[in-house]
Amino acid sequence: MADEITTSFARDIRPMFTDIDVEHMKRLSIDLSSYDDVQSYAHAIYRTVSSGTMPPPGTGEPWTPEMCARFKQWQRDNCPP
Ligand code: HEM
Repeated sequence: MADEITTSFARDIRPMFTDIDVEHMKRLSIDLSSYDDVQSYAHAIYRTVSSGTMPPPGTGEPWTPEMCARFKQWQRDNCPP
């Protein structure tokens, strides 16, 4: 349905990345503030946050199951901007 509410990168996903996440991962050439990058690396990003590998211990709180589920739902929605 055209008016069905789905997830959105700007509203639901972007705010889950902290300034530290963005800054550090930019050095490794993944810009977590960029729709294009997060969309292209979505599978790898989901893997790291859901396993607790990212963000690394000491650099931020691990993602909660709710945050991981929200990211997964965004992938299922075909990554709307
Ligand atoms: C494509 C998925 C990702 C890969 C392959 C990846 C890989 C890496 C690697 C190799 C490092 C440097 C080594 C280390 O400190 O462990 C690193 C650092 C870091 N990553 Fe990621 N990362 C990914 C996604 C993410 C995500 C989604 C977040 C945040 C939610 C994140 C947050 C960070 C932070 C904060 C650091 C800095 C750690 C420090 O300086 O001590 N990364 N990442």
